[in-house]
Amino acid sequence: MRAIQIVEESGPDSALALVELPEPEASHMLTPGEGVLVEVHAAGVSFPELLQTRGQYQMKPPLPFVPGSEVAGTVISAPASAAVTPGDRVAAFCALGGFAETAVAPAFFTYALPDALDFAQGAGLILNYHTAYFSLVLRGRLKEGESVLVHGAAGGVGTASLQVARAIGASTIAIVSSDAKAEVARRAGADHVVLLSDTWKDEVLELSGGGVDVVLDPVGGDRFTDSLRSLRENGRVIVVGFTGGSIPEVKVNRLLLKNTEVVGAGWGAYVMGKPELNVEIGAAVGGMIDDGFVEPIVGERFTMERAADALHVLDERRATGKIVLDVRPG
Ligand SMILES: NC(=O)c1ccc[n+]([C@@H]2O[C@H](COP(=O)([O-])OP(=O)(O)OC[C@H]3O[C@@H](n4cnc5c(N)ncnc54)[C@H](OP(=O)(O)O)[C@@H]3O)[C@@H](O)[C@H]2O)c1
Repeated sequence: MRAIQIVEESGPDSALALVELPEPEASHMLTPGEGVLVEVHAAGVSFPELLQTRGQYQMKPPLPFVPGSEVAGTVISAPASAAVTPGDRVAAFCALGGFAETAVAPAFFTYALPDALDFAQGAGLILNYHTAYFSLVLRGRLKEGESVLVHGAAGGVGTASLQVARAIGASTIAIVSSDAKAEVARRAGADHVVLLSDTWKDEVLELSGGGVDVVLDPVGGDRFTDSLRSLRENGRVIVVGFTGGSIPEVKVNRLLLKNTEVVGAGWGAYVMGKPELNVEIGAAVGGMIDDGFVEPIVGERFTMERAADALHVLDERRATGKIVLDVRPG
């Protein structure tokens, strides 16, 4: 099969090689001796893959290895315990090995892909939407009728969070850095869109009538203090990532003054060893697809030969929606 390997940790331009490899066995590292074999049509491209080309991601397999945390395609074989069978269209989280024509995923991380979604959308489903649900609902305790501010709202996690928040019945304010990204946030269903500027916090306070209940933050950096200032009483800032580069620090007196919280949300490591939780989150997100709230927004698409270009889009802050590798185009 054709696959992309990371052969050295020197950044996206030189770290990748397109190679021929033997087909994998139906065994996944999280479920040794067992796994769902998937004929991959589309693979999602995300920050972990970019960081892996530089050796900067927490999961560091020995070189060379095939990156790619999530795929969509057709089941080739599945263990008896799986909820899917050969021929089913699926979205699957494989953690590694997704940038290949065949990938292996644990049964508990493989979900039937509804007809409403194509393979490219399926490749943008698990990482972003499960993170959004985990962060907003399970960590942030978001409730119907509350308000949510989403940073990086035109990105993968951002667009997913806007849609999940709407499905919960919350109102949303999107923060983005350009007009083009504002358009994407609107497509993702944002109720209000605010352009990043020195006054974004004041606009948010005005739009929300004094503050939001939840801030979802995949960006971090300088804006963190203003995120805390954007909360109403009992508000929560959910820390999801640091695309802005720097890791903010909190003066905890701010939390005391308004009775607010900073909540960490690290989806991947938390859910890996909890099969039932992944089934539960998959069912919740599946319901949101069926109800028409979840519809992944696909951004730029690339062939396997252009995997490095796909990573550059993330690196250069150009991504809107989910970046996808068309592993079997057409
Ligand atoms: N905690 C978890 O469990 C979990 C799970 C999945 C992903 N993540 C993390 O969440 C973050 C977002 O992932 P994503 O897939 O949504 O990424 P993405 O699609 O590239 O979106 C990230 C957004 O961050 C903003 N940003 C601000 N400064 C940036 C910079 N210097 N470079 C790039 N982007 C910048 C951009 O929005 P503007 O230009 O509009 O500001 C961009 O749209 C990543 O750090 C990822 O590792 C965490």
